[in-house]
Amino acid sequence: GYAFSGDIHWQSPSNIAIVKYWGKHGQQLPRNPSISFTLQAAYTETEFSYVPRETTGEEISLDFFFEGQAQAAFAQKIVKFLSALAAEEILPFLTQFHLTIHSANSFPHSAGIASSASSMSALALCLCSMEQELFGTLTDPVEFYRKASFLARLGSGSACRSLYPVMGSWGKIEKQAGSSDLWGSPCADWVHPVFHTFHDDILIVSKGEKSVSSRAGHQLMEGNPYANARYQQATNNLDQLVDILKSGDVHAFGQIAELEALTLHALMMSSQPPYLLMKPNSLAMIEKIRQYRLDTQQPLYFTLDAGPNLHLLYPAEIAGHVAPFIQAELLPLCEEGKYIADRVGTGPVKF
Ligand code: PMV
Repeated sequence: GYAFSGDIHWQSPSNIAIVKYWGKHGQQLPRNPSISFTLQAAYTETEFSYVPRETTGEEISLDFFFEGQAQAAFAQKIVKFLSALAAEEILPFLTQFHLTIHSANSFPHSAGIASSASSMSALALCLCSMEQELFGTLTDPVEFYRKASFLARLGSGSACRSLYPVMGSWGKIEKQAGSSDLWGSPCADWVHPVFHTFHDDILIVSKGEKSVSSRAGHQLMEGNPYANARYQQATNNLDQLVDILKSGDVHAFGQIAELEALTLHALMMSSQPPYLLMKPNSLAMIEKIRQYRLDTQQPLYFTLDAGPNLHLLYPAEIAGHVAPFIQAELLPLCEEGKYIADRVGTGPVKF
């Protein structure tokens, strides 16, 4: 058995895809490559402790607390995830310890913001730190974050992009050496400075549970008649976007971001059975943003996740110009006036 015990504490951010991952195969492998902004204000903090077990079983031994409360449903999901990592010999030592995990989000649980990316990436980082402490492995940061990203992917696909500052990509891309379907890759080195300080205000249109989960959404892509055209389109969009991100062309960036957002929702509307996650106020906001652009020529764009909320995308230098518009025209369309003023972030933090 092991003599070691330990306490590990990581904070890891959420992310918002610009080119969307929608459709998967095999063991959490993407049908197309994707890329996202790493967020700053929306994150999960995870405290993770491990103690050797006296009698070791085949099962994972875990106490899980979410925001201070024991959470059976979340705990079950995590046990399932950790059991698979142990059984597949990815982290075979996990069954030898009793684990205690305390997790909390920086954003309200019911805000309609997906927390799977931040929570799974935070957990993955804790697991890599545990491996590092026990075996002295993963000392090279590239290797450490790559393994964390690999583990995060198995927990929730898009989580594998949250490990990196500024932007993360996922999936094999010709223009990016080292990119893979198995893990996310860092992008900050080649992304133009204008995008390092980009704003991403999350406008809460509805906090309610989604009627169709993203798991079911990925599944429905398998019968979608436009699926193959979509995967090709995403690959082309990402290929173009890489050059745009290098050049700093914020208008060209915004055009692709909006095309990707509306395509994601078009895929939902063309699934069998078709479904709609946008709400009337999502559309009202989109029209106002487009009118504002026509009137002012300012680079204010939006994207959407798999839900009704809008992410407002704009360079920091126009923040003063857009603030009165957001305040007067968009916030009144938010549920209870709620929004999160977020921006591109600096990536995970270890305490
Ligand atoms: O990681 P998942 O399985 O929750 O899927 C996320 C899918 C989108 O958020 C809609 C797009 C993306 O690339 O993040």
